[in-house]
Amino acid sequence: MSQLFRRKLHNADLEESGLKKCLSAFDLTLLGVGAIIGTGIFVLTGTAAATQAGPAVILSFVVAGIACTFAALAYAELSSSVGGCGSAYGYSYAAFGELMAWIIGWDLILEYGVSVAAVAVGWSGYFNNALTAIGFGLPDAFTRGPFAEDPGVVNLPAFSIIIILMFLLIMGVKESAKLNAAMVFVKVLTICVFVAVALFNIHPENWTPFMPFGWFSHDVNGKPIGILAGASLVFFAYVGFDAVSTAVEEAKDPKRDVPIGILSSLVFCTIIYIIVSGLLTGVVKYDQLNVPSPVAHALQLLGLQSASAIVATGVITGLTTVMLVLYYALTRVILGISRDGLISPFFAKVSEKTKTPVRTTVICGVLMACMAGFVPFGALAELVNIGTLAAFVLVCGGVIVLRKTNPDMPRPFKMPFGIVLPVLGVLSCGALIAFLPLETHMRFVLWLGIGLIIYFMYGIRHSKLRT
Ligand code: ALA
Repeated sequence: MSQLFRRKLHNADLEESGLKKCLSAFDLTLLGVGAIIGTGIFVLTGTAAATQAGPAVILSFVVAGIACTFAALAYAELSSSVGGCGSAYGYSYAAFGELMAWIIGWDLILEYGVSVAAVAVGWSGYFNNALTAIGFGLPDAFTRGPFAEDPGVVNLPAFSIIIILMFLLIMGVKESAKLNAAMVFVKVLTICVFVAVALFNIHPENWTPFMPFGWFSHDVNGKPIGILAGASLVFFAYVGFDAVSTAVEEAKDPKRDVPIGILSSLVFCTIIYIIVSGLLTGVVKYDQLNVPSPVAHALQLLGLQSASAIVATGVITGLTTVMLVLYYALTRVILGISRDGLISPFFAKVSEKTKTPVRTTVICGVLMACMAGFVPFGALAELVNIGTLAAFVLVCGGVIVLRKTNPDMPRPFKMPFGIVLPVLGVLSCGALIAFLPLETHMRFVLWLGIGLIIYFMYGIRHSKLRT
């Protein structure tokens, strides 16, 4: 029996898995926008403009957006044809078999888990600033973990926000989706405020020189810089659209709604990124943007204190939705892997009452809260990026393999132009991996090594789908 056929049978067995089918295409698009727009545009744009690309950071967003579009189309094709729980994990199972699927699943755990903790640390920075502004600033020891450059005791806000989201996700998916929709609305409104103000404060001379670091070079420490290295960094801004594909089991009409959710959220966010990054570097000289809150900072430099405060509040809300959706995605990937037997069935239990995987949600929540509370996250955005890019390479590769091995499989959504676009997806995402720093590659290899040990010590013996 082929991997694809076994996968589909298994997916059919799981149809009555206990999760509630309650999400429409619109909910899924909001889920996508909720996960996508966050630290990438609100924080990393400034870093990338100041240190890697200058005003040409807008091109970095275009390059990363193109690579993501290929991957998004591949996700759309596979989610409409292969379906099943677990996102890229499930697709890789069908295309490449169990070992590759495990590698990709392990990789997604890294992507989602570390992103949530990293975004929580960014959230905490904005939240502390807001508390200080209204006279309730926390003591420094409770705003930083013990391993930070300037050590503290615990990053309390980062720890707490994850625990709060944990309770929300336990309560139910529709409840979480409703809150997500409200917060996405605030986030988009915040961006509109910035755009409206920035449009009247452009200084075109700030766009010159446009490409101070060129397309690709190295800084004095040998670290890659330029538009392409900038693209590898701001790629973080796009992380999350794939999270929509983990909601397959809770979508009302997954074969139709999931592709719509993935593609429309990606297109919407790409347009926003191009507009915001273009305006930001037009309002303020790029070399002044290497700060933790560049968007609010730019408005402050213009003397617009209240606009800056409104934007900062919107960012706090915006980062909350990113954590919420990525946390949700993490639990659904783990659920899928556990039901296939590659990790303990303990993680596959869904609560009768709330119809959510309570155990997995609690364990992930406590672990991520501890990571966010105690560990500093400097280079982790790059670690998230390499994990995600590797997943995208495999998803595009999966489309190519399944077109060859199962040419007649029904494909309600099919990438146009044969295998040209998935091949371009493999090449572009692969190239972005190459532009990341060497130490990021080494950390990623270490993570994969740990995953392989777990697979050969447990997964291979307990798998339900192996023949
Ligand atoms: N794309 C998400 C962000 O930028 C992870 O925060």
